[in-house]
Amino acid sequence: MIEIAGLTHRYNNKMLAVHDINISIAEGEFVSIIGPSGCGKTTILNILAGLVVIDQNQGTVSIGGQPPRAGRRDIAYMLARDSLFPWLTALQNAEFGTEARGEPADTRREKAIALLHAVGLKGFETKLPKALSHGMRQRVALARTFCLDSQLLLMDEPFGALDAQTKLQLEGVLMQLWAATQRSVIFITHDLAEAVALSDRVLVMSARPGRLVANVRIDLKRPRQINELQRDPAYHELYAELWSQLETGMAMSSGDAE
Ligand SMILES: Nc1ncnc2c1ncn2[C@@H]1O[C@H](COP(=O)(O)OP(=O)(O)O)[C@@H](O)[C@H]1O
Ligand SMILES: [Mg+2]
Repeated sequence: MIEIAGLTHRYNNKMLAVHDINISIAEGEFVSIIGPSGCGKTTILNILAGLVVIDQNQGTVSIGGQPPRAGRRDIAYMLARDSLFPWLTALQNAEFGTEARGEPADTRREKAIALLHAVGLKGFETKLPKALSHGMRQRVALARTFCLDSQLLLMDEPFGALDAQTKLQLEGVLMQLWAATQRSVIFITHDLAEAVALSDRVLVMSARPGRLVANVRIDLKRPRQINELQRDPAYHELYAELWSQLETGMAMSSGDAE
């Protein structure tokens, strides 16, 4: 589904953001990326989304055999910050992306209602964002993301600003939606527990310029009950493994690749 080979990116032809990144991701795979702040995680998502354009001599990127391009229908992007339109209702926000893509009103509405129910917002369809909690607003954003039927979901710390309890609930909702639809997901997080709980694989990046320092397979069986993972020793071993890889990555000098 995704092939990134030998990707190096400099902003303004100067600031080296990521260095020699190689990633391949299969269809239906859930892959998380962790790494220190500023190591280039968002840069990688923006490159995949076609929002940051790469230098042709600095590696190759393909998604479903095609180079990145902004506005592709097979890619949906979800951010951490509140990205709902304040003047639209939960339902109008949920169907915003499909409306922008020109889907007929009745089918897109039906899909948006079903997804709002799936994320636990039955009865809140006509509420404006200001009447919803932060967790509920991210539920709407999840519904909107899954409404798009895109094969690849890029998620940049989507639950990063939520309290711990709400985050666990939303992780559960995401797992259910993902299991039902088998999209490929690239999920960025600062939260190692979240990375272990959700992923098939976790990629660990070094401090800037970001390089991949580890590729950790999360072989916990599915479906996973997020709050029961705590009792599984394998979960704690994977968590410890990620910590130690992350420490290695953070200790890497940021000068040696520039
Ligand atoms: N548009 C930009 N122009 C110049 N530098 C940028 C731009 N976007 C990000 N950077 C820099 O590139 C590095 C990687 O940023 P980013 O990908 O946002 O890191 P992360 O998401 O891992 O925190 C940082 O040093 C950041 O300041
Ligand atoms: Mg970022």
